[in-house]
Amino acid sequence: MKSTIENQVLLETKELSFHYGKKIILDNVNFHVYPGEMVAIVGESGSGKSTLLYILGGFLKPQSGSYTFLGKKVYKTFLSHLGSFRRRHIGFLFQDFRLLPFLSVEQNIRFPVLFGGMELKRERLHALMESLGIFHRRKAFPSEISGGEMQRTGLGRALLSSPQLLLLDEPTGNLDEATEKEILSLLLKLKEQGISLVCVTHSSTIRKASDRVYRMKGHSLTEELPKAPRKKGAQQL
Ligand SMILES: Nc1ncnc2c1ncn2[C@@H]1O[C@H](COP(=O)(O)OP(=O)(O)O)[C@@H](O)[C@H]1O
Ligand SMILES: [Mg+2]
Repeated sequence: MKSTIENQVLLETKELSFHYGKKIILDNVNFHVYPGEMVAIVGESGSGKSTLLYILGGFLKPQSGSYTFLGKKVYKTFLSHLGSFRRRHIGFLFQDFRLLPFLSVEQNIRFPVLFGGMELKRERLHALMESLGIFHRRKAFPSEISGGEMQRTGLGRALLSSPQLLLLDEPTGNLDEATEKEILSLLLKLKEQGISLVCVTHSSTIRKASDRVYRMKGHSLTEELPKAPRKKGAQQL
């Protein structure tokens, strides 16, 4: 087998474009993620970041270009099985948590298995809630928990199927600084476990902790290069 860089990426988009009617949202987006990376996507509101995340998650088919995941073209190979593609590979944390108010923390986390036909061991569910620090809140309802706990519950739901890729839409958007740091350290822990993360964010804390950063501008993505090392001071000349 060829050992090109292309074979090593977890996912890759090439010249991806998406529009709503005549309204162009994404134009020629080239993007890739290596296994175990945390990649941030930044950019102004309305620039198309969530749209890209939905495409990567298998929710929205682009009109042109390709999206390859583990060497397979998602909107060709998996087209009639996008649900199973998502269940097997993707965890998605929506911007507004999307917790169901009439279900407890534990039930919200278990929710996808009710429809996904997945098996779920009680020990796995408990270990997941433990690792997210919400085991003691498992019986509480969304109206009774904090923003950070809501986010952890959303993460639990996203992680239930042990995804390789976690897509996060502004995970700390409505959280205070201390809670943001807690969520970031949870994300870094997931990264250590080998999960790849793509995080749409406005947070400079998350951006700085990411391996690479892309900026969405003018319907397209550009990778921001790491800041160059400081120039040598005049005194050294
Ligand atoms: N269903 C839709 N129909 C038409 N336009 C939409 C729809 N959903 C989103 N948009 C538009 O697509 C653009 C990009 O939206 P979005 O991806 O949510 O941006 P971001 O996440 O960067 O704020 C916005 O101008 C938004 O109004
Ligand atoms: Mg958005």
